[in-house]
Amino acid sequence: MILMKPRFFIISAISATFLFIACKKSADNNPNPDPVAAVLNLPATPFNYANITQPAYLNAPNILGQINTPPGNPITDNGATLGRVLFYDKNLSINNTIACASCHKQANAFSDPDAKSLGFNGGLTGRNSMSLIDAKYYPNGRFFWDQRAATLEDQTLAPIQDLVEMGMTLPQLETKLKNLAYYPSLFTKAFGDATITSNRVSLALSQYVRSIVSFQSKYDAGRSTFPAAPAPPPNVNFPNFTAQENRGKEIFLTPQNACAACHGSETFTAPQEKNNGLDLVTIDRGFGSVVNNTNLDATFKVTTLRNVELTAPYMHDGRFTTLEQVVEHYSSGVKNHPNLSPQLRLPGGQPRLANLTAADKAALVAFLKTLTDVTILTDVKYSNPFK
Ligand code: HEC
Ligand code: HEC
Repeated sequence: MILMKPRFFIISAISATFLFIACKKSADNNPNPDPVAAVLNLPATPFNYANITQPAYLNAPNILGQINTPPGNPITDNGATLGRVLFYDKNLSINNTIACASCHKQANAFSDPDAKSLGFNGGLTGRNSMSLIDAKYYPNGRFFWDQRAATLEDQTLAPIQDLVEMGMTLPQLETKLKNLAYYPSLFTKAFGDATITSNRVSLALSQYVRSIVSFQSKYDAGRSTFPAAPAPPPNVNFPNFTAQENRGKEIFLTPQNACAACHGSETFTAPQEKNNGLDLVTIDRGFGSVVNNTNLDATFKVTTLRNVELTAPYMHDGRFTTLEQVVEHYSSGVKNHPNLSPQLRLPGGQPRLANLTAADKAALVAFLKTLTDVTILTDVKYSNPFK
């Protein structure tokens, strides 16, 4: 084998560089480049976001009644596609370093493994990032742990303007997006013309977020073997579950353990904010400060438990790192906060402790893990479209 002489190597490296520059120039001079195809991997026909076929028990009237989609912003395939591009676009932050996806990572069920997330300027968020799965099913339609956003449409513009998260003003956002060649055609497909407004950004982002729904977990495979209604009673076993998972399901659904009283229905959410006894006194006022009502201090959104295995750390402040710690909280640690929700109180008013055996705690954790839906973690239609 002949080794390349150093001089020859330098000459070939230089000519390769020239060849590269020449090719790049001819690509730049191309009179008709497709600005979308130049930076984005999008399918010719958009993915299906609008008409996802879900199991019958997710189309039951009580579940449909939970949906918070406003009449003016139904999901369309092109609208959610635009939302997906915006969600992954770092241009939404003032210094082009942070996208929504930086703190809502697909691999972590659209949450962040860090207790507090890093913003554009190295600052930390005040609370733990939230999973976006099944956002559309939160019945009162309010968003953030403290429910300060009255709608998802209000929520989606908040991180862009947040001084820690993305640091933009809405006029800056509009100017910036207008100067990006790939947006006019995406806005045209989504809204009928190329006008770029922050309101349209909010609508498209909300469509994308609402399209992220989970129905392919082990729980769903088991639930699908029963009629949509009535739901099978707590002690009826799912054929695909282990004995331990079935025991955990029974504990979760049995009224005196209260889990399903708050994380109820097939979407594992509550209708509205609750206090689950994390602290004896108020540390974070939560919804109480939003509505200026001390009777609601330290109440927080009851997020879905779907995919909870993948969304650690847990609670609004990320205080628990494992599901075992969460279960221990409900088994022995519920505190008598004045606003502790009634579902976690005994008839005499004392906190309701589940007092589970070690085996039952492990079973409850095993059940929570049956809510994991790995299809969402790799589904291309929710993934980063940038090349
Ligand atoms: C720097 C990290 C960060 C960025 C960037 C970020 N988020 Fe968040 N997100 C969070 C945190 C933290 C929370 C919870 C904050 C709270 O409740 O006070 C949150 C909450 C949310 C919620 C509420 C979910 C619920 O169930 O109530 C939605 C929806 C959301 N973000 C969507 C987005 C979108 C869309 C973008 C991009 C425009 C975005 N986020 C950018 C960190 C981030
Ligand atoms: C009174 C209503 C209520 C009951 C009953 C309840 N929870 Fe919760 N749960 C909440 C609230 C509220 C939060 C969020 C609290 C916060 O962050 O301040 C939560 C959070 C969680 C989380 C963490 C979610 C996340 O993404 O961080 C898990 C897991 C959980 N609960 C499991 C259970 C289990 C298991 C039971 C039964 C043993 C149970 N819950 C009973 C209201 C309740």
